Amino acid sequence: MAAGTVLITGVKSGIGLEFARQFAERDWSVIATHYSEQPPEPVVQAMERYTGIRYEQLDISDSAAITDYAAALTGQAIDVLINNAAIAYDGSASGIELQSFGHVDPATFHRMYAVNVLGPLLLTQELSANLRLGQHKKVICISSTNGSLTAPLPGQSINYKASKAALNRAMICVAEALAEDGIAVALLHPGAVFTEKNAEHGAGTYPGMIGTEFSVTSMMGVIERLTIEQSGKFFNYDGGFAPW
Ligand SMILES: NC(=O)c1ccc[n+]([C@@H]2O[C@H](COP(=O)([O-])OP(=O)(O)OC[C@H]3O[C@@H](n4cnc5c(N)ncnc54)[C@H](OP(=O)(O)O)[C@@H]3O)[C@@H](O)[C@H]2O)c1
Repeated sequence: MAAGTVLITGVKSGIGLEFARQFAERDWSVIATHYSEQPPEPVVQAMERYTGIRYEQLDISDSAAITDYAAALTGQAIDVLINNAAIAYDGSASGIELQSFGHVDPATFHRMYAVNVLGPLLLTQELSANLRLGQHKKVICISSTNGSLTAPLPGQSINYKASKAALNRAMICVAEALAEDGIAVALLHPGAVFTEKNAEHGAGTYPGMIGTEFSVTSMMGVIERLTIEQSGKFFNYDGGFAPW
């Protein structure tokens, strides 16, 4: 894939940070974003290694901040937008307590929807003019088979599962809306990935768990091969279709 400009949300850790590294390694200009005012330490380290990474503050749970941020980028071409940021855990020790039936916490639910669904939707809407200026014209939304209705995973992370199902449906609408501009929109399941945060929450033992670098390298291939004809589809990290 010829180099261009990629904007990635939620780059402090895990998959987003690895995307920033791998695009920079391929000589892309990387706009790496996170809600912190100052770049988090892992991003500072990545910027020391790759001059192509620039850090910008963007809290995708803040609708007004998204609008202001997009206004500041007026006229800047964005080739690929990666809606990566999301919340999976609720802050409790188990990580799913406040999402379990019988204990569903409204504040946690709303917070997850703001970050996992509304944020990517609004950001894509606000940056659509920038994407039209780009050469590659791709929007990648990191989803999860936790949102699959036809092959539901067991477990009680209700908010997270519902938010990914909602993200999937919303982005099919976005794909339809952006098709006439030649902008391809894809949902992408990264696999069960052994990130820092999964390790921290003791979620490192799922069968078939894969490394962050391998997941992102595989997804880079899917992004490169994505065509407008495939817009609105849900892919697994290995390029196969993920179940809706
Ligand atoms: N890891 C897996 O096994 C797996 C499986 C399926 C799907 N996914 C999806 O893959 C994506 C990346 O997840 P990950 O595993 O790499 O998790 P992660 O390490 O927690 O990365 C998520 C990033 O989003 C950031 N973030 C949270 N709220 C934000 C906000 N309001 N604005 C901007 N950034 C925000 C987080 O920052 P803080 O940590 O500072 O809050 C973090 O840097 C997510 O969409 C996730 O749902 C992951």
